[in-house]
Amino acid sequence: MIKNISVIGTGYLGATHAACMAELGFDVVGVDVDPEKIERLSRGELPFHEPGLPELIRRHVDSGRLRFTTDLDAVGSWADIHFIAVGTPQQSGGTGADMTFVDTAAAGLARAITKDALIVGKSTVPVGTARRLRDLVAEESREGVRVALAWNPEFLREGFAVQDTLRPDRLVVGTDSPEDEATLREVYADALSRETPWVATDFETAELVKVAANAFLATKISFINAFSEVTETVGGDIRTLADAIGHDARIGRKFLNAGVGFGGGCLPKDIRALQTRVSELGLDHTMNFLNEMDQINLRRRDRVVTLAEQILGDLSGRRIAVLGVSFKPLSDDVRDSPGLDVANRLFNSGAEVFVHDPEGNANAAKRFPRLGYVDSLSEAAQDADLVVLTTEWDEFKALTPADLDGVVAAKNFLDARHVLDAAQWEGAGWTFAQLGRHFPQD
Ligand code: UDX
Repeated sequence: MIKNISVIGTGYLGATHAACMAELGFDVVGVDVDPEKIERLSRGELPFHEPGLPELIRRHVDSGRLRFTTDLDAVGSWADIHFIAVGTPQQSGGTGADMTFVDTAAAGLARAITKDALIVGKSTVPVGTARRLRDLVAEESREGVRVALAWNPEFLREGFAVQDTLRPDRLVVGTDSPEDEATLREVYADALSRETPWVATDFETAELVKVAANAFLATKISFINAFSEVTETVGGDIRTLADAIGHDARIGRKFLNAGVGFGGGCLPKDIRALQTRVSELGLDHTMNFLNEMDQINLRRRDRVVTLAEQILGDLSGRRIAVLGVSFKPLSDDVRDSPGLDVANRLFNSGAEVFVHDPEGNANAAKRFPRLGYVDSLSEAAQDADLVVLTTEWDEFKALTPADLDGVVAAKNFLDARHVLDAAQWEGAGWTFAQLGRHFPQD
């Protein structure tokens, strides 16, 4: 019977997974090389914003079911299952995935493990990794100890991480033995409702499911954003178009929200890594469309800057409020954030930029300290020549012209997430530009 679980890497994925495994009733130890992170997590403190997760961590730290350590050797003799949840960032100076952390974790574990155990990779990796790591682990592990390997990709969304882990849409496990699959079924037994699809497959399929899902989501977003370029030119309403095609159950409405595009720690890097990997495999043209998706995505940011220039002319010395720099609502993550990129580019064009984000200000300030960061929407909009909505937090979606009356210096609004009612703003005398909609001054 499985009792003890270790989770290697206590970043976003690892901290969530460790807490959720404790919630499922296991004794869990989270392992990280960063002693400060371990100390904070041991006190139940999280270095990032994720609804519900701090409470879950604190509950299980208090119950004694969840602990954190830097000592990999200690978990090697203790855990029955070791999840690898370390990052696979974009290579510096390249587009492929940097596998250093995964490889180091797998080799370190193999050397530390002293009793039969299963290593389960959760990180997003180039196809072929699991097979390679299985051989590496077999080479590095101690004599007489069976260390098996499985791949079990994670599909969690920031902002819904706990829910996505405890009640997943599907569980995918890649193994090379029925025994290892059965072990994982036991681990997840309490998270599996009768309807949760259990996809038991080989290593390659499991690895590819993850990158295929991300590539498909990115494609949906860029697809609708490409149509935005058309409606911006000829007229038409992108939201109605998305609703209408979304009524077709084969297409579906989700992930067809036009706007300034996708960002975050996953989609952008994962589609680049996928392309790089298939090129390495000699399939140079197979994933070329993803390059196009990336380009469409980046062009949306250019469009925001162009519209700002059309509205204000030269941006030098103009005051611009940017609402939203986390890459999406309910997150403080600013990695590859479209909103933050736009804010920085407006600043580089000479504008005075005041940013407000309900959660993302602190992280954004670390990246771009020269922007102005303020604690409220009205402070950001104070005396602004232009207000730009870049992340669709609820408080921004609820904005009405009356809220900014007498606050701004000029009634200019740019809705880069296409969430406000253009007629209402124009009716109140605002110059109102919106991604996905024809702008009369074009
Ligand atoms: C994503 C995947 O959804 C998740 O399954 C995977 O494990 C990790 O990557 P996440 O990065 O948390 O999760 O964000 P997600 O909710 O997918 O949004 C990604 C980006 O797309 C955000 O910047 C969001 O604003 C943008 N987006 C999303 C759109 O522009 N339009 C949409 O219709 C949906």
